[in-house]
Amino acid sequence: MTTSPDVRPAPRPLTEPVGTVVPSQVPTHWYNLAADLPEPPPPALHPGTREPLGPQDLAPLFPMALIAQEVSTERYVEIPQTIREIYALWRPSPLVRALRLERALGTPAKIYYKYEGVSPAGSHKPNTAVAQAYYNAVEGTTKLTTETGAGQWGASLSFACSLLGLQCEVWQVRASYDAKPYRRMQMETYGGVCHPSPSDLTEAGRAMLAADPDTTGSLGMAISEAVEVAAQDPNAHYALGSVLNHVLLHQSVIGIEALDQLDAIGETADVVFGCAGGGSNLGGLSFPFIGRNLRDGTTTRVVACEPAACPSLTQGEYRYDFGDVAGLTPLLKMHTLGKDFVPPPIHAGGLRYHGMAPMVSHAYELGLLEAIAVEQEVAFAAGVEFARAEGIIPAPESTHAVAGAIAHARAATTDETIVIGLSGNGVLDLPAYHDFL
Ligand SMILES: Cc1ncc(COP(=O)(O)O)c(C=O)c1O
Repeated sequence: MTTSPDVRPAPRPLTEPVGTVVPSQVPTHWYNLAADLPEPPPPALHPGTREPLGPQDLAPLFPMALIAQEVSTERYVEIPQTIREIYALWRPSPLVRALRLERALGTPAKIYYKYEGVSPAGSHKPNTAVAQAYYNAVEGTTKLTTETGAGQWGASLSFACSLLGLQCEVWQVRASYDAKPYRRMQMETYGGVCHPSPSDLTEAGRAMLAADPDTTGSLGMAISEAVEVAAQDPNAHYALGSVLNHVLLHQSVIGIEALDQLDAIGETADVVFGCAGGGSNLGGLSFPFIGRNLRDGTTTRVVACEPAACPSLTQGEYRYDFGDVAGLTPLLKMHTLGKDFVPPPIHAGGLRYHGMAPMVSHAYELGLLEAIAVEQEVAFAAGVEFARAEGIIPAPESTHAVAGAIAHARAATTDETIVIGLSGNGVLDLPAYHDFL
């Protein structure tokens, strides 16, 4: 008996393009606001020396390509083709005119929403998860660790790791681990491993449990656990779902597309509303608009909508602080409620972060964006109103942006154009809606 030769091609690395036809509306470059700011944002500092961080200080946690993006001042950064191919699974995301919501509100304003809930994981988070997993895989990392608040980021990183061949280990804030079991199941379906935080798996977690065995956890605590594990494993790196410059850079695909989509129908945004936890969907949507304001003199307003229970921009101090509770991260100049602040366990778990992205904080200080704080009840009422008019049930985080926009539209007296950043869908958050109804 003869055996035929094996003509199957050798498997190609998962980081190589597979040949997907990518629609031309999927951006070819990310946009970096640092290139257009009138003054540079204050640098991240080494916690020991208090000197600006060098690339080597970040090397135990991040691949070199992301470290370079973190400090880049280039206006445009090319998006690798493999990432564009994965983006093409859901990008360009739709920009939709909310005509039924306009009618329900009786407003003369035109309301559009940019909907990121169409991604496989259900939010904007895969825009950076895919990029972070890609650069790590290219540089030989085999595992990523991370924290997650609502579970949206953990699910997104698990999704990205599965497509790019990495292991993924996630610490999910205790309050949301208990309240949102479907997010954990989503992570596990993608092959991720998920622990409640604080856990007894890390030194940081054990110290936090010793201090308060019944703590509901916080994003700051979960970050400490994920950073600790990554720093001790030479094959592992850490991935952050918000706050850092490279995360906001990757999220700029949202705003780049929105600008193009508005241009294509001859519209200009008068005001943009985005919810703000660590600042990544807000920055991703609004920075291309702010960049255009700075370069071309347009006047689009940007309003960050944060939860009244965790109001870092509207109530926090602007100073250097740690990104985590244990003090393992670099010092970041940001609006902060203090690293030890444990927000009440509101349903919008992704907004329970003590600080705000340094780039968003800096833009706020420069007067390039405004901020409001929204009560949970008001946010859910807006989410329900939106769902009943437009059909989409917004993620609890996104309802804050909807609430800001609805209040603005109700008071509008002209046909001004409002854009809402609808960062995710809430179909796995229905118990939160149920509590409210
Ligand atoms: C749907 C959604 N929107 C918003 C956020 C808040 O994060 P950021 O401010 O980084 O966009 C989260 C965080 O988990 C989220 O899941």
